[in-house]
Amino acid sequence: MGKWKVLITGSSGLIGSEAVEYFDRQGHDVVGIDNNMRRVFFGAPGDTAWNLERLRKVTSQFEHRDLDIRDRAGLFALFKEIRFDAILHCAAQPSHDKAREIPLVDFEVNALGTVNILEALRQFCPEARMVFLSTNKVYGDSPNEKPLKELPKRYDYADPNDFDGIDEECRIDRTTHSVFGASKVAADVMAQEYGRYFGLNVGVFRGGCLTGPNHSGVQLHGFLSFLVKVAMAGGTYTVFGYKGKQVRDNIHSLDVVRAAEHFFNNPRPGEVYNIGGGRENSISILEAFEEIERRTGKKVHWEYRDEPRIGDHICYISDLGKLKDHFPGWRVSTSLQSIIAALIEAEEQRGKA
Ligand SMILES: NC(=O)c1ccc[n+]([C@@H]2O[C@H](COP(=O)([O-])OP(=O)(O)OC[C@H]3O[C@@H](n4cnc5c(N)ncnc54)[C@H](O)[C@@H]3O)[C@@H](O)[C@H]2O)c1
Repeated sequence: MGKWKVLITGSSGLIGSEAVEYFDRQGHDVVGIDNNMRRVFFGAPGDTAWNLERLRKVTSQFEHRDLDIRDRAGLFALFKEIRFDAILHCAAQPSHDKAREIPLVDFEVNALGTVNILEALRQFCPEARMVFLSTNKVYGDSPNEKPLKELPKRYDYADPNDFDGIDEECRIDRTTHSVFGASKVAADVMAQEYGRYFGLNVGVFRGGCLTGPNHSGVQLHGFLSFLVKVAMAGGTYTVFGYKGKQVRDNIHSLDVVRAAEHFFNNPRPGEVYNIGGGRENSISILEAFEEIERRTGKKVHWEYRDEPRIGDHICYISDLGKLKDHFPGWRVSTSLQSIIAALIEAEEQRGKA
């Protein structure tokens, strides 16, 4: 394909904003949808207006629409107006913990909002390619059934066969997801159905920890970015359960966007991929504290609550085998060290601003 018309939903958020910049840089026409609902979910620290302002400055073809993905009529009008070639659907209520307070809104945004996009795709641009950002929370707590070993600073898989992490065969039902995980399951399965049943070019990416300097990190969402933010501000970080030895794999937002581009170029209808930083970019909370202290010279203050979040993973590493197999040109290009350095630098810049 030559010049694309690209739709990014959640375009002021972490992944969405990275995608806007990326596709704009390539000369495509980019339309972004975002109603700054992250501020509604998380208050002022979640406000993404600064990121929209930044995007307006650094892009040349980007057009922003203040549209709610729950507004089906508004969405359909947009799809009638513009025939999109590629869609990256990132708009979401993204927090595990927030969803318990607002289960109806969570479901309306995550599940129904996604079906609205899928249906708009089917009705108005069925040849377009689409990637839906799902989550590893669709596996609920079933990854915790893997035998684990406890090391001084982290948990790890006890069985050498699990070394590469959790693959897409992991079951998604008969497990506790949290309300957020369940609304994402609904969206994830519907997205698969639009690929498999309707034959549309829809792929599903189940994210581990997606991160990068453009995250409006808050306690309820954005693990590393929030941790760095608290550490740099001299605040106190709260660890929930598992002794701080819980492991997450972290991937830079740019690597997620590049994977979506690979899918757009070679779509496989209804396929599901785990995407995260993989083993090399995995880190426990205790290890993250150490790394931040080493880099900043500042002691991280933290407190411990001996109650894990419901449905939380003890050790989650994304097995990237399928993604790499289907898209051999893709790889994790940003190391964990570089990610942490970039987060620290972004906080320093914000502190100066
Ligand atoms: N960040 C992570 O660690 C992570 C991990 C796994 C999966 N994901 C998934 O990746 C996707 C992107 O995550 P992110 O980290 O960029 O989230 P984000 O919160 O930074 O961005 C989402 C954006 O969507 C917007 N939005 C929310 N509801 C909306 C609505 N109804 N209409 C229009 N816009 C709306 C928000 O204002 C926000 O700017 C989400 O689907 C999320 O569930 C994220």
